[in-house]
Amino acid sequence: MDTSGKTISCRAAVAWAVGQPLSLEEVQVEPPRAGEVRIKMASTSICGTDARVLKGWLPLPFPLIPGHEGAGTVESVGPGVTSVRSGDLVLTLIIPQCRECQACLHPRGSFCDKQDVLPSSGLMLDGSSRFFCRGHSIYHSFRASTFTEFTVVPEISVAKIPAAAPLDRVCLLSCGVPTGYGAAVHAAQVTPGSTCVVIGLGGVGSAIILGCKVSGAARIIGVDINEDKFPGARKLGVTDVLNPGRLSRPLQEEIQEMTGGGADFVFEAAGLPETLLAAWESCHKSYGTCLAVGLSPDDSKLVLNATPIITGHTLKGVCLGGYKTRDCVPQMVSDYLQGRLDIDPLVTHQLPFAKLQEAMELYRAGKPIRCVLLF
Ligand SMILES: NC(=O)c1ccc[n+]([C@@H]2O[C@H](COP(=O)([O-])OP(=O)(O)OC[C@H]3O[C@@H](n4cnc5c(N)ncnc54)[C@H](O)[C@@H]3O)[C@@H](O)[C@H]2O)c1
Ligand SMILES: [Zn+2]
Ligand SMILES: [Zn+2]
Repeated sequence: MDTSGKTISCRAAVAWAVGQPLSLEEVQVEPPRAGEVRIKMASTSICGTDARVLKGWLPLPFPLIPGHEGAGTVESVGPGVTSVRSGDLVLTLIIPQCRECQACLHPRGSFCDKQDVLPSSGLMLDGSSRFFCRGHSIYHSFRASTFTEFTVVPEISVAKIPAAAPLDRVCLLSCGVPTGYGAAVHAAQVTPGSTCVVIGLGGVGSAIILGCKVSGAARIIGVDINEDKFPGARKLGVTDVLNPGRLSRPLQEEIQEMTGGGADFVFEAAGLPETLLAAWESCHKSYGTCLAVGLSPDDSKLVLNATPIITGHTLKGVCLGGYKTRDCVPQMVSDYLQGRLDIDPLVTHQLPFAKLQEAMELYRAGKPIRCVLLF
């Protein structure tokens, strides 16, 4: 049946308020307007950012349809859309690439002005929503809501990917993998023989390990308070593991001693101000680089001692690997298809979308690296 131009009723997860369990509901998804794309989702995975949204750590308006790491097929496009058409395989992008704003036009810019993360309106670019449920208008999350059988996103938030891409896997290439891999390979430019530290060994931390390994890091120290994450991290290339909960002194002191004066590259992927401070203080004071990848709670502050800043180490924030997303994400999918990037070990769990609650419980229990939900 041709659904283009019509409102579609389908199943979606709605978060009615902060801290409430997700509710599987029948929602109405309006057709895409000018510059928009409606996607039939094939898979989505749970990113740490979704869990933080649901806890209220990021200021998004509710009720909303969460999720942003997703893969699917274009169902229909709105007027003026030229880069994709019905039937194309696509990934949703939390950071768009409009190719017109100052960030997009700058050779090193990647945080497109048309993003809806910081701050977040929960609405499409024209200031309205495409989702309705039980008579209420429902907000989008990051203009990428993926916990729904159909979603509408801006064309600039869509990466067209090769027709051969397995949609049950490549959803990870929508956020978690480019975020972590790009932080190491692109933003930090990890050097051969270097010592790296990765704090937080979830999906993003695991992708950072992949990036450190491919860059030739000699030593990769993995840090997590959940020791269940250690065997998987070792398989990916971690050489040493640390649980800060078991240390008799602060993590940064331990790392300073283990590395004889500080690491070359320290990645924070736990998303807490205290681990970000520990990451900064774990760098070599002269030439170390600290990469802030995790999203700390909205109102948190990072307080640094001002004097040692002059010694030479670098603090750098990075979003989605610092990539120009629509250019680089399809390339990563090709790299995966051609065997140059192995993301399969990161998919530790797979469930049907109807079991989203179970998947959220697994996430809260710290079990998966990534849990993929299949529609
Ligand atoms: N910058 C970006 O573009 C971007 C993109 C995606 C996700 N993120 C953020 O990156 C972070 C990680 O995302 P994820 O999907 O891997 O999440 P995740 O929840 O799967 O992983 C976080 C890991 O950190 C560990 N952890 C928690 N507290 C810790 C502590 N005190 N010390 C050490 N480890 C600790 C957890 O046990 C878990 O293994 C989140 O903050 C997420 O919001 C940022
Ligand atoms: Zn832009
Ligand atoms: Zn994400």
